[in-house]
Amino acid sequence: MDARPWAVLFLKAALLVSAELCLPDGILASSRRYLQEPVDGPDGVNATALRMVVYDWPSAEVATELTAILLSEVLGYHVEINAQKTTGSVESALQLAGCVSFDCLERQRRSHVAMDSWLAGLPGELANFERTHPNLAARNLGSMGYIGSDTLYVKGPGRDDAYYTSGLALDFYKSYNTSLHDPAKFFSKVTELDTAAFAPCNSSEHEFTNDAQMRLYREWTGDGDGVRETGAGFMANCVDGYFWPSPACRHNISECIPLLAAGFGWNVYVFMQWSTFFEMPTAIGIPKSEEQRRSLVENFRTLFHWWSPDAAFLHLDTSQVVFPRHKRREWEMGLYRTGYPENSIVKLAAGQLAAMAPRVYQFLENLRLDLEDMQSLLLEVEHGASSRVAACSWVRNNTEIWTTWIPVDTQCLPGEGLQDSDGQHLANRSAAVGCSSCRPGNFSQSILDNEGETYLCKPCPAGVLG
Ligand SMILES: *[C@@H]1O[C@H](CO)[C@@H](O)[C@H](O)[C@H]1NC(C)=O
Ligand SMILES: *[C@@H]1O[C@H](CO)[C@@H](O)[C@H](O)[C@H]1NC(C)=O
Ligand SMILES: *[C@@H]1O[C@H](CO)[C@@H](O)[C@H](O)[C@H]1NC(C)=O
Ligand SMILES: *[C@@H]1O[C@H](CO)[C@@H](O)[C@H](O)[C@H]1NC(C)=O
Ligand SMILES: *[C@@H]1O[C@H](CO)[C@@H](O)[C@H](O)[C@H]1NC(C)=O
Ligand SMILES: *[C@@H]1O[C@H](CO)[C@@H](O)[C@H](O)[C@H]1NC(C)=O
Ligand SMILES: *[C@@H]1O[C@H](CO)[C@@H](O)[C@H](O)[C@H]1NC(C)=O
Repeated sequence: MDARPWAVLFLKAALLVSAELCLPDGILASSRRYLQEPVDGPDGVNATALRMVVYDWPSAEVATELTAILLSEVLGYHVEINAQKTTGSVESALQLAGCVSFDCLERQRRSHVAMDSWLAGLPGELANFERTHPNLAARNLGSMGYIGSDTLYVKGPGRDDAYYTSGLALDFYKSYNTSLHDPAKFFSKVTELDTAAFAPCNSSEHEFTNDAQMRLYREWTGDGDGVRETGAGFMANCVDGYFWPSPACRHNISECIPLLAAGFGWNVYVFMQWSTFFEMPTAIGIPKSEEQRRSLVENFRTLFHWWSPDAAFLHLDTSQVVFPRHKRREWEMGLYRTGYPENSIVKLAAGQLAAMAPRVYQFLENLRLDLEDMQSLLLEVEHGASSRVAACSWVRNNTEIWTTWIPVDTQCLPGEGLQDSDGQHLANRSAAVGCSSCRPGNFSQSILDNEGETYLCKPCPAGVLG
């Protein structure tokens, strides 16, 4: 090893992924490799740790820790998780490109990998960036193995009562049509909920006062009584200042099913349109805090907004309510009479990673977690484990899963050939221990054997330069 990496190591020691090993036979920090990153300047390359973006949501934190353990202890790379959390895929696409903004006039230190990247809602700027900066744009290494989904949920007790006493399937939107059914009798009454736990409808920090969406509600549903115009714009028309009753039960709020929104009322306007289009008797309220939302969901029979992957209500017996299949063009117009889109959740990598560390690239392409894996990781975090501890426990428990992600040592890439332990190129896999680039005067030839495709270095035919 030359002298430069040591200087880098000295600078970065404090930030590198914990020196403590997770795996008993993991590769020690002292034996790990740096990426050789191409840079402008006399040396042409810079030895650097593999830097990972980490988003500020729990599934991203555990997915990043889990990947970092395998990249450092099994593939043998120095890995550094960014200290600053990233808020979304747009920001991470710029970090992976090493640019401060989409014009890329100002550069930032490049990151190399971003796990658990949610692709929904990426703006046109990103596609444009891929066209104008093809060498810098991040690569999509495929699904994390699970998708992200949002919808309304219903809890077990009411759902089962309804089904076993009336044959009413509360996990399907059509069962809420008040012209045919009386679903409210399987839920708590709005009057049982303490309004002190809810944000007032007229609060400007919450989505009931989202002027544009409230106008769209009135336009698409024609429900003029559902909203009212104030000096500050349109807002939801709530009877008692806290709950928005849908047309199906507006005449008597005791006939409404309480529907709990999340956050600052994320997507209440979607639930308003659903309730009106599907004749659902709902009274939508926005709990003041996450703690209050959790306690309301646990203690009452309500409909509630939730998403996956997430651990908040995994300990309850819940079902998703199924809505008609998403129609993207309608949603783009603010017309919400179909369900949420499914979110692709993928791995992103810097464009140069494939050339700098082909085995890391292959490993990341192979990596796939099941939703059950992610839910069990999140449950451990929910129970108080750090992301690192939960990830390590999963890695120790599931060797048979992640070993299938590790590229076979003798699976060579174009430009390489099989070699033995002395570094000599070989004509077949039998004595091969790995791969290395073909030397000048040789070319890399693809072969297929019973372990799959790999490459050999063969002398070039006379008169051809390698
Ligand atoms: C090489 O990497 C180090 C640490 O990552 C950084 O401080 C330095 O500026 C880099 N050099 C070049 C030429 O990019
Ligand atoms: C919301 O309504 C309450 C009661 O009607 C009123 O006292 C309060 O000032 C209103 N707040 C805003 C922000 O309009
Ligand atoms: C409102 O609905 C409840 C529950 O169905 C019922 O008991 C009550 O009589 C209704 N009130 C009026 C004014 O219709
Ligand atoms: C609700 O039921 C009524 C009566 O059968 C029907 O006419 C209406 O189309 C239904 N609404 C929806 C959204 O399915
Ligand atoms: C790992 O296995 C232990 C013992 O079976 C279990 O308690 C723990 O929850 C598992 N961890 C994960 C992340 O699956
Ligand atoms: C593999 O190559 C070795 C020489 O490197 C040779 O002795 C052996 O016969 C080859 N095996 C097969 C199956 O071709
Ligand atoms: C590579 O090419 C050189 C020059 O043609 C030749 O001497 C050498 O044997 C080749 N090496 C391999 C591993 O094929």
